[in-house]
Amino acid sequence: MDTMDQVAVKPGEAEQEGSASVIAVEDLHKSFGSQKVLNGISLTVNRGETLAVLGRSGTGKSVLLRLIIGLEKPDLGSIRIHGQDIDGLALDQLGEIRTKMGFLFQHAALYDSLTVEQNVAFPLQHHKKEMPASEKCARVRQLLEEVGMEGALQKMPSDISGGMQKRVGLARALALEPDILLLDEPTAGLDPISSAEINDLVLKLQAEHHMASIVVTHDLHSAKTIADRLALLNEGNVVIEGSFEELQKSDDGFVREFLRYS
Ligand SMILES: Nc1ncnc2c1ncn2[C@@H]1O[C@H](COP(=O)(O)OP(=O)(O)OP(=O)(O)O)[C@@H](O)[C@H]1O
Ligand SMILES: [Mg+2]
Repeated sequence: MDTMDQVAVKPGEAEQEGSASVIAVEDLHKSFGSQKVLNGISLTVNRGETLAVLGRSGTGKSVLLRLIIGLEKPDLGSIRIHGQDIDGLALDQLGEIRTKMGFLFQHAALYDSLTVEQNVAFPLQHHKKEMPASEKCARVRQLLEEVGMEGALQKMPSDISGGMQKRVGLARALALEPDILLLDEPTAGLDPISSAEINDLVLKLQAEHHMASIVVTHDLHSAKTIADRLALLNEGNVVIEGSFEELQKSDDGFVREFLRYS
């Protein structure tokens, strides 16, 4: 056995060595009025890693992503992106950090009144004003090719299927070459084949771009396929975090129930 074999580590682990987490969420609390939604959530995601966040409807998964993006403020706790606490940042600094985050919202993945091409070009128009129009155009085509949607440039979102809309949403999320990818239910409402295609696409994008990714999903199969680790939320807390196999071994009543009905 040579030295390389002896120190062999998974690719993701090699990249993490010695570097701080890209996303580090600590003791996050968030309430809306008297409704406590998040009650002390802590999570980390490293470069090249995908974390799946699972949980019942209404447990605060989308709220968690909105907090990480900085669209909502936590009541307590911290969110560090590349080691920088986003609380208290001036709007322009937060805006700068956000350009490094690609996100796909749960609903309304695209702007209805813009073509597919205009949707994907949108982040470039706003954040890459110095980029020549011809380069923007080439970049949009390249992004759409990457998600297999190069034939739909002039189509309106209402004229393409839900799965295609998610693909275009992913292309738009990648427009600014983010190092963080946040996906809220990328396979919700899709048939099993379209879901599998989106899973494959997320895996491919992650292998090519080595982002730190969080994927919120109800779909345990999808989580198992695309994620390195899974975190299951319930009543505002992380009930368990680990590999799919670790979840399967758990004797926690909620974990067992969640797995049984998934
Ligand atoms: N801006 C808001 N104002 C008031 N309540 C909110 C707000 N945003 C979220 N909530 C509440 O917080 C709770 C968690 O919402 P969230 O959308 O994060 O759930 P979720 O886990 O993403 O659910 P789903 O799986 O159905 O998407 C819900 O009860 C929701 O009504
Ligand atoms: Mg949600």
